Amino acid sequence: MALPRLGILISGTGSNMKSIVAACESGEVPAEVAIVVSNRGDAPGIQWADDHGLECLVLSHREYATREDHDRAITERLRDARVEWVCLAGYMRLLSAVFVDAFPNRILNIHPALLPSFAGLHGQQQAWEYGVKISGCTVHLVDLELDHGPIVVQRAVPVLADDDGTRLAERILVEEHIAYPEALKALLTRPWRLDGRRVLFG
Ligand code: GRF
Repeated sequence: MALPRLGILISGTGSNMKSIVAACESGEVPAEVAIVVSNRGDAPGIQWADDHGLECLVLSHREYATREDHDRAITERLRDARVEWVCLAGYMRLLSAVFVDAFPNRILNIHPALLPSFAGLHGQQQAWEYGVKISGCTVHLVDLELDHGPIVVQRAVPVLADDDGTRLAERILVEEHIAYPEALKALLTRPWRLDGRRVLFG
């Protein structure tokens, strides 16, 4: 049987992309990475993906008049690649309705804090500055609001007395690399449904 096809969107390092690729290659996640898309040609992750033999595409948002035009171009290329699930992995762009409606409840994002706390940029630093004792990461379905959709997986990370934002971020990233494959595996292998904004697994 054909495996579900993933599209991974990045803007930077792509360490979460690598964890997803590794999990697909090991069979832990029963899916195939069909394409990696970056909105930045200089993203280190896209070079890695290319070297790794994955289909790659750079579509710079600067070459489109509107967010919707950029999103339309990406969704068309994802469709061409027969992508069924989209993984945002450090993709630093808000998605318009053009994109979200093209893959309803089939877009995932990872955020480096326990949502709904510390949405937006630098969630790890925000959490450290706020003084929480536990932070972590969240994998969630994407809706039209930033870092907002239904939560699939969260992993907790204690904040240590001698942490700073950077050290905390490093330990959260370790958990991110577990959380994203865990969320994908659950969604692809178990029956699930939405009850309001709660993701319920059967
Ligand atoms: C991660 O911390 C992720 O949670 C956030 O952006 C960062 C991307 O890191 N959305 P990487 O590019 O996957 O290494």
